[in-house]
Amino acid sequence: MYRSHTNGALRLANVNEEVTLAGWVQKVRNKGFMVWVDLRDRYGITQLIFDEERTDVAVFEMAKTLGREFVIQVKGTVIERQSKNPKMETGDIEISASELTILNASKTPPFTIEDDTDGGEELRMKYRYLDIRRNPVKENLIFRSKVTQEVRNYLSSDGFIEVETPYLIKSTPEGARDFVVPSRMNEGQFYALPQSPQTFKQLLMVGGMDKYFQIVKCFRDEDLRADRQPEFTQIDCEMAFIEQEDILNAFEGMTRHLLKEINGVEVGDFPRMQYDDAMRLYGNDKPDIRFGMQFGELNEVTQHKDFGVFNNAELVVGIAVPGGNSYSRKEIDKIIDWVRRPQVGALGMVYSRCNDDGSFKSSVDKFYDQEDLAKWAKVTGAKTGDLICILSGDTNKVRAQLSALRMELAERLGLRDPKVFVPLWVVDFPLLELDEETGNYHAMHHPFTSPKPGQLELLETNPGDVKANAYDLVLNGNEIGGGSIRIHDKQIQATMLKHLGFSDEDAKAQFGFLMDAFEYGAPPHGGLAFGLDRLVSILGGQETIRDFIAFPKNNSGRDVMIDAPAPIDDEQLTELSLKLNLKS
Ligand code: AMO
Repeated sequence: MYRSHTNGALRLANVNEEVTLAGWVQKVRNKGFMVWVDLRDRYGITQLIFDEERTDVAVFEMAKTLGREFVIQVKGTVIERQSKNPKMETGDIEISASELTILNASKTPPFTIEDDTDGGEELRMKYRYLDIRRNPVKENLIFRSKVTQEVRNYLSSDGFIEVETPYLIKSTPEGARDFVVPSRMNEGQFYALPQSPQTFKQLLMVGGMDKYFQIVKCFRDEDLRADRQPEFTQIDCEMAFIEQEDILNAFEGMTRHLLKEINGVEVGDFPRMQYDDAMRLYGNDKPDIRFGMQFGELNEVTQHKDFGVFNNAELVVGIAVPGGNSYSRKEIDKIIDWVRRPQVGALGMVYSRCNDDGSFKSSVDKFYDQEDLAKWAKVTGAKTGDLICILSGDTNKVRAQLSALRMELAERLGLRDPKVFVPLWVVDFPLLELDEETGNYHAMHHPFTSPKPGQLELLETNPGDVKANAYDLVLNGNEIGGGSIRIHDKQIQATMLKHLGFSDEDAKAQFGFLMDAFEYGAPPHGGLAFGLDRLVSILGGQETIRDFIAFPKNNSGRDVMIDAPAPIDDEQLTELSLKLNLKS
């Protein structure tokens, strides 16, 4: 038996018990006649005491040789501490050690295994197994396990069946590039790793499985950000014989349950917002509605004067920053610099101060009078003491820019409290999205999403106006899930693929299996997938999903610990028929 208790277990009630503990050395304090060791494991820290007078000489001498992160086993007696530590759960006791075994020595770790470590991100990722010993990382992984467990229990008790689907498949178009795997046995051919189990879950519906879920890895070769990893986990769900309303209710229920169980927060009915309104009012399809600062469109009240910048813009739009009139000229200049950074891309920013006496002072006073500025305040909902920030330009671009500014300023103003949870359904997404570079339309969600009833005809005439039975679940400004009602009719699926630019042959080659299945009694069906990493991190009060993944990749998609991706040797290349291809 390695241990009788964990390092988080012992209390005053255990005093006088003989115990055996094991764990890692967190800290050694050697006072010459006395050695204290903090012994750590997943459960906590227990203080050990080696005493020149009471401890066996050999054991005492060995205690002096212990270094940080040594793995040891200790036998001893639980005693009451002289000076108690109320910050530690085991702070009332310590172990008077009688035996000590070094189970494994340790090199000095490259960074301190403390809550506030001196290790930078790259170093911690290289030694992630040491990073995981730190409380914040450990707690995040335990938190993730708790959320996952809660999801499994909830869905299982609601009649969902967990089914695994394959990882070696062919392309599932979710809008990213595929990771591909060469097939040794099928020369020159490749599997694609699933961007999601989308087609398989639909086939499960054709197979009569009805309520399906799976906590599943998905793989997407796309640019990485704080909320994106090349491999991530979905809570993937699908149901048959349902309408959009059923899906929204089912997963609103699950999300509400999680907020209650995990965060102790009770949330009422989730508000719903049309995609068009989200874009108009927040410039974004995943608005954070914990705070206001809604967009006010200002074309009508700005384009009647000689200010060319506004007159030539497709959209002039502003937000009122609460209390922003207190910003100094220098601070406002910094905000202007911020919107002009290449990542945001605005050319400049016009502002108007809302003074306490009801007057206004704008950066374009040359063109606009007090009456104009009062109208701007009305449209943006600005009050005295606020600052109106205005951007102008092409509608899509300027909305994205102002949305970025809104989020940044809200962050600075402390309006994005991670302990406040406000979910939102965004509904009625467009079916198609125009790719401005190629001029082609592609599916905004994925090609299996059904248009709203009666809108199929619009596909021919105004494809950009067709709305889909598609919805996203947004939590605190993050898209934590998305889904749709699917097409279950072969003909409609074929029409859809035609509009997405697939020739009949391509459509058959890529999705023939699905369309064939639709000819054998496919039920109406639909579903949704949550991003588990995002859900967990937001419930955990953070927005960087890496912190909730045991072994994440860095921003270049590398695992710096195992050093992947890496070249493979010639023999393997040849075996996979890749060598020849490279030469030719
Ligand atoms: P979608 O592509 O919207 O839908 O993905 C669902 C959810 O997965 C999360 N997500 C990601 N999380 C981390 N890293 C990524 N690279 C990443 N990409 C997506 C998001 C997103 O809301 N098959 C459909 C679902 C359906 O229609 O049922 C799908 O995959 O939180």
